[in-house]
Amino acid sequence: MLRSFATRNLLRSFARQSRNYSVKLTSESYDVKRGNYASLTESDVQYFNSILSANNILQDKEDLLFYNEDWMRKYRGSSQLVLKPKTTEQVSQILKHCNERNLAVVPQGGNTGLVGGSIPVFDEIVLSVANLNKVRSFDEVSGILVTDAGVILENADKFVEGHGYIFPLDLGAKGSCHVGGVVATNAGGLRLLRYGSLHGTVLGLEVVLADGTIVNNLSTLRKDNTGYDLKQLFIGSEGTLGVVTGVSILCPPRPTAVNVAFLGLESFEQVQRAFVKAKKELGEVLSAFECMDNTSQSIVEEHTDLSRPLSEQYPFYVLIETSGSNKEHDDAKLETFLENAMTEEIVVDGVVAQDSTEIANLWQWRELIPEALGKGGGVYKYDVSIPLPQLYDLVVDVNKRLIEAGVVGDTPEYPVIATAGYGHIGDGNLHLNVPVRFYDKKVEKLLEPFVYEWISKVSGSISAEHGLGFAKRNYIGYSKDEQLISLMKGVKNMLDPKKILNPYKYI
Ligand code: FAD
Ligand code: MLT
Ligand code: ZN
Repeated sequence: MLRSFATRNLLRSFARQSRNYSVKLTSESYDVKRGNYASLTESDVQYFNSILSANNILQDKEDLLFYNEDWMRKYRGSSQLVLKPKTTEQVSQILKHCNERNLAVVPQGGNTGLVGGSIPVFDEIVLSVANLNKVRSFDEVSGILVTDAGVILENADKFVEGHGYIFPLDLGAKGSCHVGGVVATNAGGLRLLRYGSLHGTVLGLEVVLADGTIVNNLSTLRKDNTGYDLKQLFIGSEGTLGVVTGVSILCPPRPTAVNVAFLGLESFEQVQRAFVKAKKELGEVLSAFECMDNTSQSIVEEHTDLSRPLSEQYPFYVLIETSGSNKEHDDAKLETFLENAMTEEIVVDGVVAQDSTEIANLWQWRELIPEALGKGGGVYKYDVSIPLPQLYDLVVDVNKRLIEAGVVGDTPEYPVIATAGYGHIGDGNLHLNVPVRFYDKKVEKLLEPFVYEWISKVSGSISAEHGLGFAKRNYIGYSKDEQLISLMKGVKNMLDPKKILNPYKYI
């Protein structure tokens, strides 16, 4: 029998972890040489002062810290200048100047990216779009939102919620990441299963090219077959082709009936059976199917005040969400699905949230995994797409490899704490994470290129959602052939011939 969900403790404060060691400079810990770019001069700063107000130009060491270091505390740059334009015109003036002067630039959104893409490698200028933060328009009938790129994802969602709509993407970093940032990374998130990829929901973009040209492709049409669909090039281009300044996106109506169930399962095979069953029996109301292994849940438990939703521990957990418009109908569907899944011994145990607080609490067990895994000191992260039957084998094989190499242990001298797997199983996307006490070249060499070779052998993708950034700049060849890479380089050369935008990254 399914138990109802008990009230749980409040979560411990989970702010960005304070640093207990300093992050090494990327340029020192990786084999990378500064490109032939100009260095910033006083007259460049004077020029920027002529177009931006003083408080939108940061040069103070302390002020620069946030912009030079990534969320995982793995990469650090040494930029001397952060520019925070307030208008698209200012972005254009900045880029025009940088292009003429051959100054390298890193576009930055909320700085929550997980592949070191938003951080300078050397002294690149950081162009933060955080001040481009206004909603431009919303159409109540079509649900089409047009917004500045720097609007925080959660704020965009709150805005459309006021009109009965939902932003078609949700992820754990929503309180910090930007609409433009998620577009630039083509983020997937927790409900891609339901609302699809940004390649489908984004209707138009306003982008500033490396030479300052403003490309106005901010269409609000669902259908438009006139010419190449160039906006697609910028979705997932990670700041290497242009700076996204405006986004037009189709928002679906906000579901009025939401259910969440949290289930315990004995094996990854049962997880797959549960997924097939959920697709068939929950059909149109299924909005998320997330899976977490017990290691990832134990680490969340260790770093929060939450108590486990289920009294027993299981090798795997699945969080299923349904979103619809008729509560009775959805409740009945979910109940039948759960009863059948338990009778067929696919699911061993589970709870169903009874109200919105319990829904939020159950989601914490999924959404807090990334933050909890980083608490030990650092984390090696892989976000891969693999055919579903082989998906979890990667975690098993990596765990075995690390144990055999003698790098895993409970005491401080061992770098590796554990090997964890979780992710958007409904999208065939696994997050393999190796939380560590400190970043260690020996561990990195055990993981790379082993993980990428493993993925390539099963024709998977080395990045399902986080992108290439700095972390995977040398590994695209495991997922794309030479011809495709050469075409990509051609696009880059055409749009940014001096390669001032986000150098040392991507390809
Ligand atoms: P940043 O980190 O600032 O930048 C990311 C990249 O985009 C960089 O290469 C940068 O140069 C470029 N960029 C940013 N803004 C612009 C712009 N306006 N124009 C051009 N280029 C730009 N990702 C998922 O796909 N699914 C998840 O479920 C998910 N969950 C996450 C949970 C947590 C807790 C965290 C920390 C991250 C998660 N991510 C997830 C990673 C995800 O890539 C980012 O959260 C988000 O997409 C990046 O947005 P941002 O505004 O922070 O961009
Ligand atoms: C997630 O799904 O939680 C994110 O992609 C972040 C992560 O992989 O840790
Ligand atoms: Zn993810």
